[in-house]
Amino acid sequence: MATTSDNDDEEINPFTMLQLNAANHNKSPTPIQHQTYHLTSITSTVVIRQLPSQGLSFQLWPAATTFVNLLDTYQPSNTDSFSSVISTVKNRSPHAPLRILEIGSGTGVVGIVASAILGADVTVTDLPHVLENMKFNAEVNSSVVGTRGGEVHVAGLSWGKVEEMEVIGRDFDLIIGSDVVYHDNLYEPLIQTLKYLLLGDNNNNKINNINGDGHEKVFLMAHLRRWKKEAGFFKKAKKWFRVDLVHEDGPSDVSRTGVVVYRFARKDAVFR
Ligand SMILES: C[S@@+](CC[C@H](N)C(=O)[O-])C[C@H]1O[C@@H](n2cnc3c(N)ncnc32)[C@H](O)[C@@H]1O
Repeated sequence: MATTSDNDDEEINPFTMLQLNAANHNKSPTPIQHQTYHLTSITSTVVIRQLPSQGLSFQLWPAATTFVNLLDTYQPSNTDSFSSVISTVKNRSPHAPLRILEIGSGTGVVGIVASAILGADVTVTDLPHVLENMKFNAEVNSSVVGTRGGEVHVAGLSWGKVEEMEVIGRDFDLIIGSDVVYHDNLYEPLIQTLKYLLLGDNNNNKINNINGDGHEKVFLMAHLRRWKKEAGFFKKAKKWFRVDLVHEDGPSDVSRTGVVVYRFARKDAVFR
């Protein structure tokens, strides 16, 4: 499992970021922080720059840590649900390396780690003002990522914006995201983006929503539940997608609910 270490004066416990406004209200954030992830599966280290003073998109969120840990424990021979999803995607992909799209990447950590561990071609995306820090993190880690044949590309993708979705396209084997369900005004644009990526042009076109070999497109989402209103997102999502539980962290000292990972796919997707 990945271990993390902070090499800054002020330690950030990702769980305290759940109450960012409350817990950190009286602290002036350290301008630059670096989080180091020691990835045991590939005996490598990924370093991520955070700029907490610039906002939520520049910080590491709890679900990202769970996603990183799951990737770091991934082995093709593992039979847990998370590993099985990754293995299935890998085995059925017409692309080598695997092509992954991350949405709402923030610092880019999950996409960078996925690229390093899976040797994947990963596109990390976010709102325009977030891209510079993601580029920095992608560049700093490019040699670790490249060791296993991976590559990280940075691109803008604002949820719900058709022109931007069309530029990104759908030619990916796997879509990933962590902690992307938080503001209720983002539920609808996020669902529009997922519909575009998973369901195809007119949301019913089976030809466009599967890969060349008939493999259903899948979105793996790590999520930490914070508010009851999030049920509204899942209710909307379930109108369009089959949503399956893939992994659940136990509660921790600081949070009663653990991070949960879901697989989204078209409603009539069949998984063995
Ligand atoms: C809570 S942060 C999570 C960041 C990162 N995935 C992580 O787990 O550390 C949510 C991310 O979604 C991005 N985001 C918010 N609204 C967005 C939108 N309309 N389009 C694209 N990304 C958006 C934010 O910029 C931010 O990086």
